[in-house]
Amino acid sequence: MTILDGKKISNQIKDEIATEVSRMKERGEKVPHLAAVIVGNDGASLTYVGSKVRACERVGFESTLIRLPNTTSEVELLKTIKDLNENDDIDGFIVQLPLPPQIDTQQVLMAIDADKDVDGFHPTNFGKMALDMSTFIPATPFGILELLDRYSVETKGKHTVVIGRSHIVGRPMSILMGRKGFPGNSTVTLTHSHTKNITQITSQADIIISALGVPNFLKAEMVKDDAVIIDVGISRVPDDTKEKGYCICGDVDFENVSKKASYITPVPGGVGPMTIAMLLKNTLLARERHRANNK
Ligand code: GUN
Repeated sequence: MTILDGKKISNQIKDEIATEVSRMKERGEKVPHLAAVIVGNDGASLTYVGSKVRACERVGFESTLIRLPNTTSEVELLKTIKDLNENDDIDGFIVQLPLPPQIDTQQVLMAIDADKDVDGFHPTNFGKMALDMSTFIPATPFGILELLDRYSVETKGKHTVVIGRSHIVGRPMSILMGRKGFPGNSTVTLTHSHTKNITQITSQADIIISALGVPNFLKAEMVKDDAVIIDVGISRVPDDTKEKGYCICGDVDFENVSKKASYITPVPGGVGPMTIAMLLKNTLLARERHRANNK
C-alpha cells in the first residue's frame, strides 16, 4: 500500500511555482496577485482562506484578503466582485463558499470575470472544462488529478466511483475522470444521496473518490482489494483529547480501508494541501494570460 502524500507533492508544486515567480521578478515582471473574499466568521472557512493567503506568501505571490460581515447583502458582495473584476492589479480571485443564506451563490459565481475565476466555478469555465478546452480546473479535482499523475496511478479503463455530486468536487471530478487523456479514460459512476445499494457499486470500483463529508463513511467491506482510495472529506469531529477540541476526519475508515487499498490519501495531508497548491497554479496561469492579453 502506498500513501498518496499530498503534503509532500504540494510542497514540490509550491517550490516549482516559487522558482517561476523568482524568474518573473528577475525579468522585471509583475508577480501574480490573488484576492480572496470571505463573508462571515465560519471557523473552517477562515482557516482555509488563511491557508490560501499564507501559501501565496510562501511562493512570492501578492495576496489580498477581503473580510465582509455575515450580514453582507448580495448587492454589497456583487459590488465587491465588480471592483475586483475591474482592478487591473488583481490577476485572480475567489469567493470562499459557503455563503450566508441571504446571498444567492450562483448569482455571485456568475458575476466573477471568467478570466479571473481561478476556482473554475463560473459556468463558462465549467463548460470549457467539460468540453476539454483550456481553462481553470476547480482546485480540488485538479489536485486529485495531479496526485494521480505524479504517482503514475493508472486510470485508463478503470472503474472510478465518485461519491457525492457537489459542484466543487464530485460533479467536476466525474467529468474529468471520464475525459480522454491521462489522468482520465475511466468508466465513471457518480453516486449520491439517492443511490441505491452503494456498497454493491463501491465494491466494484478500481478507484473511489469520496467527497461526501460524512466521517468514516467508507468502510473496508465497501472496498475491493487493491482499490485506489481518494478521501476528500474534511469534517470537524469533537475530540476532547485535542487542543482545539476537534479532530479533522475524512470520509474513509483509514485504519481498516488502508489494509486493502493499493493507494490511499490520508486526512489530513492528502487532498487538502493539493487544493491549495492547485489554486496557486491557477493563479499563475491567470497572471500569464493577463500579461499576454495586455501585450
Ligand atoms: N469551499 C470549499 N472548497 C472551496 C473551494 O475550493 N473554493 C471556494 N471558493 N470555496 C470553497
